[in-house]
Amino acid sequence: MLTQDQMKLAAAKKALEFIPENAVIGVGTGSTVNLFIDQLGTIKHLIQGAVSSSEATTERLKALGIPVLDLALVDELPVYVDGADEINHYLHMVKGGGGALTREKIVAAVAKEYICIADETKYVTVLGEFPLPVEVVPMARSYVARQLERLSTSGSRVHPELRMAAGDKVFLTDNGNYILDVHGLQIAEPVSLESKINQIAGVVTNGLFAQRRADVLLLGTQSGVEVKR
Ligand code: A5P
Repeated sequence: MLTQDQMKLAAAKKALEFIPENAVIGVGTGSTVNLFIDQLGTIKHLIQGAVSSSEATTERLKALGIPVLDLALVDELPVYVDGADEINHYLHMVKGGGGALTREKIVAAVAKEYICIADETKYVTVLGEFPLPVEVVPMARSYVARQLERLSTSGSRVHPELRMAAGDKVFLTDNGNYILDVHGLQIAEPVSLESKINQIAGVVTNGLFAQRRADVLLLGTQSGVEVKR
């Protein structure tokens, strides 16, 4: 019986097969990606460098001697490797458990191919059991929360919760914003919900990655890594 971490590691290792030589690659954020960064360290002489999606990832890349480049100065990003909090069979995802959703979405938008690395616990039929992270400009938090509550249906009560950090402090993103974690959504139509939430004034990004879904999923399972497209 493999542990969740062993399945994450298997997916992270498999991702090395998708890294083109001599390229700049995009790197996501999270515990699965951390395992991938460690693997990337073993082939760092084969790549030019990386574009990072968070301060945490930047620190880890630099510690391994992998050059971190500014996205604005990079022409092409053939590949972006990142995890997911949930991923469905269409490879639509919920992301942002680590709070890095905005930069992740920007780097993913630039990349030609999104390689998602995840263990089998993340693979779901319907998105939404994992609370959907929404990054908001601080002054808009109550307004956005009220608008999100209006997504409730007769069968479900939608409940946004302000993300907190240690010591009773409000969690701050790398961009200095807040996160509302939205509970109670059953996301039947991820593509349209992504647009709808983005239209609320004060929302910076939401954690639905449906309009830019993953192209390849490397899913660590009990019986090995499955490649899904
Ligand atoms: C970070 O903001 C997230 O989008 C992560 O990619 C996602 O939460 C997956 O993280 P784990 O690999 O730690 O589960």
